[in-house]
Amino acid sequence: AVPRLLAFAGSLRQGSYNRRLIHVLVEGARTAGAEVTLIELRDYSLPVYDGDIEAAGMPDAVRQLQALMASHDGLLISTPEYNGSMPALVKNTLDWISRPTDAGGSGVALFQDKVAGIVSASPGPLGGLRSLLVLRDALAKLGLLVVPQQVAVGQAADKLPDYGILNDDRLRNGVHGVANAVVRHVRATLA
Ligand code: FNR
Repeated sequence: AVPRLLAFAGSLRQGSYNRRLIHVLVEGARTAGAEVTLIELRDYSLPVYDGDIEAAGMPDAVRQLQALMASHDGLLISTPEYNGSMPALVKNTLDWISRPTDAGGSGVALFQDKVAGIVSASPGPLGGLRSLLVLRDALAKLGLLVVPQQVAVGQAADKLPDYGILNDDRLRNGVHGVANAVVRHVRATLA
């Protein structure tokens, strides 16, 4: 079977460096033989998690994201770093997906034994490295296997001039290495 990966950047803004970077990760995964669904979180307009909203009926956007998670073998995420952590947008998205599904199943089960690859980009020198540590931990707690390879792209304004363009051979190889590791682990679990 062909590995199927769901990909998103953890930023809503048009000029997002992480949106530019997710295209590099996606390209790597496609080259490695995966089928990738790249989504824009902006299209889902998730509210901040609220149990009353959930009790009144699960938002369609959450149902759609849960269905996407169910039909894919892993996640590719490029995350910004906000004050040393992951943005609320990323955590909120994961939290909504983790809630019980329409079919009465556990949302957390949708993540179980799936594989994740994570990268980050920031205009600062560390490239959002600290957000990767927090995101890695959050994904592991949901039951995903997060590959050990990861890349933080600093000085993003210079290094990421456009979607899918990363002007640094070492970093680009690193990002492709993350993609390769994810595809390899999915293949191993599908086999
Ligand atoms: C930031 N930024 C930031 N950068 C960083 O390297 N470390 C940090 O801790 C923070 N903290 C932070 C907090 C908040 C609230 C904002 C809005 C921003 C800067 C951040 O890296 C920059 O805005 C990036 O451009 C965000 O990623 P996108 O939107 O370009 O993908």
